[in-house]
Amino acid sequence: MAKFAVIVAAAGSSSRFKNQNYKKPFAPLANKAVWLHSAEKFLARDDVKQVVLVIGADDREDFNFKFGANVAIMGIDVVEGGVHRADSIQRALARVKPDIDFVAVHDAARPCLADEWITQVFNAAEKSDAAILAIPVSGTLKRVAADHTIAETVARDNLWEAQTPQVFRRQLLMEAYSKRADFHATDDAQLVERVGHAVTIVPGSPINMKITTREDLRLAEKALAALPKPKFTGPAHPFADDDMWR
Ligand code: CTP
Ligand code: MG
Repeated sequence: MAKFAVIVAAAGSSSRFKNQNYKKPFAPLANKAVWLHSAEKFLARDDVKQVVLVIGADDREDFNFKFGANVAIMGIDVVEGGVHRADSIQRALARVKPDIDFVAVHDAARPCLADEWITQVFNAAEKSDAAILAIPVSGTLKRVAADHTIAETVARDNLWEAQTPQVFRRQLLMEAYSKRADFHATDDAQLVERVGHAVTIVPGSPINMKITTREDLRLAEKALAALPKPKFTGPAHPFADDDMWR
């Protein structure tokens, strides 16, 4: 079985979230911090051998107070991030153990993740060395000028919106990051594209939304409830597929 490490990125400044009390990875969602929802789906998997959480240096003290004991029990490595997302990932990548085959990078701000999507993008990465979840763009896109008038309509043909997890063979991601110089990529696939490696798209779901604003946090409550139910893998009981209770 291939060994996966997961980097959970929670070191952003949450500037668009605009909450004095906490940054979005630490906001409560269904009685649990957002980042913990994002991390726990990976922690439950047999093929995930390491989880590295990246937090802001200024959050370290609060974080240790609130989560230090749990993080130790769960075996999560915690590292401090940098100014840009890519700086944060690069620091976490330096902590990934050398016996790891694949590295998955996931936004802490995407807590509504189904096990089957993780399995699909992990499988795709095993086949092609690089795979990400993404959804086709469904809206009509406008490029807007500074005066809030439309400059142009952007054709949406073949346009997809990248999500996370984004999963790469460890050596490939290390190479991509070592060549990034000061390029501020907003996702990891960009850096892998830059070294000329094809990245496979695995169709995801709009339920795997990223929390950006406070309204998104309320939507995420509903998205959690809308997640596909995990497929039951144990012995089926007599009424397993029965509609009689609906
Ligand atoms: N992130 C990070 N380190 C950074 C910037 C972002 O680990 N220097 C993480 C965020 O914590 C988030 C994910 O990357 O989970 C996606 O970034 P984004 O949604 O842009 O979050 P923020 O940068 O925190 O928010 P904003 O852009 O509104 O300030
Ligand atoms: Mg940001």
